[in-house]
Amino acid sequence: MKFFADTAVLDEIRDLNSKGLLDGVTTNPSLIKKAGGDFIATIKAICDEVDGPVSAEVVATDYDGMMAEAEKLIAIADNICIKLPITWEGIKACKSLSDRGVPVNMTLCFSANQALLAAKAGAAYVSPFVGRLDDIDQDGMVLIEEIRAVFDNYDFSTEILVASIRNADHVTQSAIIGADVATIPANVLNELVNHPLTDKGLAAFLKDWAEVGESIL
Ligand code: E4P
Repeated sequence: MKFFADTAVLDEIRDLNSKGLLDGVTTNPSLIKKAGGDFIATIKAICDEVDGPVSAEVVATDYDGMMAEAEKLIAIADNICIKLPITWEGIKACKSLSDRGVPVNMTLCFSANQALLAAKAGAAYVSPFVGRLDDIDQDGMVLIEEIRAVFDNYDFSTEILVASIRNADHVTQSAIIGADVATIPANVLNELVNHPLTDKGLAAFLKDWAEVGESIL
């Protein structure tokens, strides 16, 4: 499963990238607002930092506006992925861009039917929002299972990019179901390595090694 960083904060992206496990980045207008700074300059800096796809989201809601904004974003770097909302205008723009070979991430997905439309429009990625479904007392991971089943039924190449991840269990469940990508906030990604028994075990090994009194080097 690929790991994307779900942030527009460059320092967080650099830190995660330094661990060698980062496959891409996703942003949205809210994350851009949180990061501060100029939108185009921020996206360019992120594209320079990571080799993988960087999702940059349009804010126009009509087809022509989406296509015009997409052109500007495509020009930023070779690893731009255009992020579009799942509306009919977005689906039309997705089809046009995908037909030209531009990678598209269809976002704000809350149903298997929306994911099916994104796949039929040729999207490279579809982003189901698990945390926001949990927020309204629906199990977000059930949607991931449904989309996995639908895509496998028809061999769609669209990748399931699990978004709105709030905790480590969302990552575990995404991997068990077989999602292609998890886009993960920095705090959740950093916590994936932690387990109290790892800390306890390491402390015991180091204590015993000190008593051995040798040096490996
Ligand atoms: C990423 O592509 C999404 O925009 C993001 O994961 C949404 O997360 P949120 O529901 O925590 O805002």
